[in-house]
Amino acid sequence: MKKSMHILLINGPNLHLLGKREPHIYGATTLTDIEGRLAKLAACHNIKLTAFQSNHEGEIVDKIGELGLLADEHSRFDGVIINPAAFTHTSVAIRDALAAADKPFIEVHLSNVHAREPFRTHSYFSDKAVGVICGLGDLGYDMALDWFIKHFNR
Ligand code: DQA
Repeated sequence: MKKSMHILLINGPNLHLLGKREPHIYGATTLTDIEGRLAKLAACHNIKLTAFQSNHEGEIVDKIGELGLLADEHSRFDGVIINPAAFTHTSVAIRDALAAADKPFIEVHLSNVHAREPFRTHSYFSDKAVGVICGLGDLGYDMALDWFIKHFNR
């Protein structure tokens, strides 16, 4: 039987506060709503979705390792949707963890990072990502999952 696709959805620091945190920038939708919506979309396409949020860099590195290289082949993820949040601009460790897993990933940002403070324009992820979606609010996550659905069904 064909193995169902496994996507890891990672959200970095402060994204557990979505809905309350600067809603004029990040919108009114909560992370629980986003994760629930994506889980439904994934289930419709026989995709296993693992959602993980952490404020701690090492925990994100551990999760990528645990479900990437360390997991047996059957439970390993096939792709990652990641909003590294503030770690976008700082984390070589998470970049290296994704490189080690060697699976496609899409970088998502709710806000348009290029229309904000200059330090937000640099990302440690974009040059390794299959694509970057920013400025489209929480719809960006759905679009990233849609890419994986279409890519794996090709
Ligand atoms: C963010 C943009 C980052 O610069 C910021 O640190 C975040 C959220 C976004 O989704 O727009 O926490 O990744």
